Order: sequence, then C-alpha cells, then structure tokens
Amino acid sequence: MKTPIIDFINDYKGKKPLRLHTPGHKGFVFCGHEEDDITEIPGADELFSPDGIIELSQKNASRLFGTPTYYSTEGSSLCVRAMVFLLCQRLGRQARILAARNVHRSFITAAALTGADVIWQRPMPDDTVVSVTVDPVTVEEQIIRDKPDAVYITTPDYLGKTADVAAVAAVCHRHGVYLMVDCAHGAYLHFLPEPSDPLALGADVCCTSAHKTLPALTGAAYLHTAEFSREEVLSAMAAFASTSPSYLILQSLDGLNRYLCTYRQRLRRFIPEVDNVKASLAAKGYVPYGDEPMKITLRTSMSGLTGYETQSRLIEKNVYPEYADRDFITFLPNPQTGVRGLRRLSSVLCTFELSDPLEQERFAAVLPRRAMSIRDAFFAKKTVLPVSQCEGRIAGDVCVSCPPAVSPVVCGEVIDGATAEYLRSHGVKSVSVIT
Ligand SMILES: Cc1ncc(COP(=O)(O)O)c(C=O)c1O
Repeated sequence: MKTPIIDFINDYKGKKPLRLHTPGHKGFVFCGHEEDDITEIPGADELFSPDGIIELSQKNASRLFGTPTYYSTEGSSLCVRAMVFLLCQRLGRQARILAARNVHRSFITAAALTGADVIWQRPMPDDTVVSVTVDPVTVEEQIIRDKPDAVYITTPDYLGKTADVAAVAAVCHRHGVYLMVDCAHGAYLHFLPEPSDPLALGADVCCTSAHKTLPALTGAAYLHTAEFSREEVLSAMAAFASTSPSYLILQSLDGLNRYLCTYRQRLRRFIPEVDNVKASLAAKGYVPYGDEPMKITLRTSMSGLTGYETQSRLIEKNVYPEYADRDFITFLPNPQTGVRGLRRLSSVLCTFELSDPLEQERFAAVLPRRAMSIRDAFFAKKTVLPVSQCEGRIAGDVCVSCPPAVSPVVCGEVIDGATAEYLRSHGVKSVSVIT
C-alpha cells in the first residue's frame, strides 16, 4: 500500500529546501522530529479540504476500514465534538441525545458548545462511573418516552466492557434515531476475525483513537461514517479543529495503513496469547473484568489489593499500566508488546500476594439532581473550590481526573455528599462550581 504523505515529506526533506513557512523551527533539530514536521505547503494538501496526498491516504484508510474514514490529528476528542455538531447540523437545530452516563469529558463540552440537550440512560445496578451496562430494552423504553434524536454510547469502555451495538442499533433504527458511538478504545475491532467495529454492527457514526490501540502517534484518530456526507464531516471537524494539523501525526496515520494490511493476521495470532494471560492470572486468584479481547482489566480489590497499590508495585518493577483506580487496574497490550511482554506482566503480577476481597467501592447508581442545562452551567459565572467545600453546589464544569476523564457529576448537576467523597477519594482536589 502506498504512503503518499510520508513520500511527499521524504521528497521535501531530500530537496533541502529553504523553509520560509511555519513551523518556526524551520526543520532544524531542537527535540528530534522537526525535519518531518511541515505545514500545509503547496503539495501537502489540506486536512479539511483534501484533494491530494491526504485524500489519497484517507482513501487507503477507508478501504482498510471498509467505510468512509476521516483523519483527526487531535484525537477522538475532536471527533466526539464533531459527531455532536454533525447531528445538530443535520437536524438544523440543537439535538436531543440519550447518552449512557460514562461519556468522556469531550462529549460534555460538545453538548455545552452546541447546546445539545442530554438525557442520561437510567443507571443499571452494577454500573460504576467508568463502566456501565447499555441495556437495549432500557434504551428502547427511554427512546419511546424521551424522544431523542440520537443515542450515544461509549464502547468499549475504559475497563474493557463492550455493549451489544447490533442490538442497540436495531432499536435505534426501529425508532428512526441515530446511533453515535465513542469507540476511542476500539480502533482494532474492525480487524478481528469477525469485524465488530460499531459501523459493521449498525452504528451511524463513530470515532476511534488510532493512538490508543494501534501503533500510531498520540493524537492520531479517525471519524468513520457512511451516514453523514464528506462535506458534512469535513465542515464539522473544521469547526473545532486547529488549522495547523500535525504532519507528524498525519504521517503516522499514513504509515499505519501499510501496517494494517497485515494486522488481521497479527491479531489472530496475538489474541490467544492475551487470553492465556487472562486465564493464568485468573488461576492465580485475580478477577478479570470486561469482555474486550485486547484489554486486560483486573478487579484487584476482589483479590485484596487496590488498583492504586497494584499500580505502584508494578511501576517499581518498571511495568506501567494504562489506568488504575481503587478497585481496578487496566493494561493495554498489543502485538508490539509481544508474548515476552505479556509474560513479563504476568510474572510480576504473580509475585504479589493476594488475599480476601476488600470492601468494594460503592458509588450509588443514581443520577445527581439536575439544576440547570449543561450549556447554561458551562457558560455561567464560576469559582473553583476545594472538594471539601463543594457539597450542595452546582457543578460548572466536568469534575474529573484524566484518565479516565469520565465525570461522576456533569455541569448543571448538584454535587451531593457521596459525589464529593467520590471525587476526593479519586484524587480530585478542587472543582469548578457556579457562583
Ligand atoms: C472513551 C473515550 N473517549 C474519547 C477519548 C478521547 O480520546 P483522545 O485521547 O484520542 O482525544 C478518550 C480518552 O481517553 C476516552 O477514553
């Protein structure tokens, strides 16, 4: 497969040009990657009006993903904002969206900026802040009752739990409602033996972060959709994006296309190795969580260790996980990790002494009381208070640490005692509240 963006930049570098354009480093090495870092000079195409090398590269990606695919050099965060705006543009008004509660913070700011009205899916008994069950029956009841324009879900979630996208899509389409999916953690799903990416399962639009599960530079992401036209997508992306896309990231996406040509086979070989590690950790007494094939999440609190403690001990051994909280720890291996990497993870985890379950963190699955809309709260006058003083106040922004960037209380909702305690115990020191 050709790599038109990489080839163009190699040609350009080879000519040793006098660079009288941005970026200001002019190709001189300050931190190491400057020679490859260009801007939209003649021949380099334009990300949101592509008809040259970027267009060719995106066509390659579209062929690989089997659906129209658009590049983002600003992560899924940009694509999430674009998805919400796309919907509002299509409707010609502020959209009404039924969303599962574990949305990434970019969805909240997208709702605030577009004025989209958000109705939350009713919480399910085992929901945590980060990981929720999307129940198609509940979704259908809420569609009938609340009449949203779209349903918005996050799958896989941060802990590796996946939703039944096909069932949710069937419900949505029965009622003439769009299905939008934040699949930031699932860019690889299309390459499973049985493609299980959201679009293959019936979603209308989704985003995926190439940089999370595929070997791409941080910031590389895709928006996939056949429902919305190229003109709609490019205009929505441009509304929120920088006019200076990173050509380092574009090259990364371009080169990734070549890698993805053989990715299916690599995954087919690697997934059984991940399964083996999960099984051996379970045999040792760890409790795996989630059903995503390429993520290893352990509910360590069921084995007597907090996720935080497990993380610190792993870091002492030079092993860095993706995420840890009180109850869970999450690892993101991929074929680059290799079997040796998996064995190393497993052998370190197997040296930790396990014991009886800790008391499980309980954060009641009830929605906080809404005092005003997300948009009104986001634009209201605010002050920042220590978490100890925020009980009873209305949140003026998302209150969250990153990762996982999922907020237990969103702008416009009242912060109750349990939420304040949750924030405190998850390391949030101060929150923005309405004055
Ligand atoms: C579920 C989810 N959606 C969206 C994002 C944003 O992705 P990106 O970092 O590619 O902007 C994240 C980031 O962690 C995420 O976890």
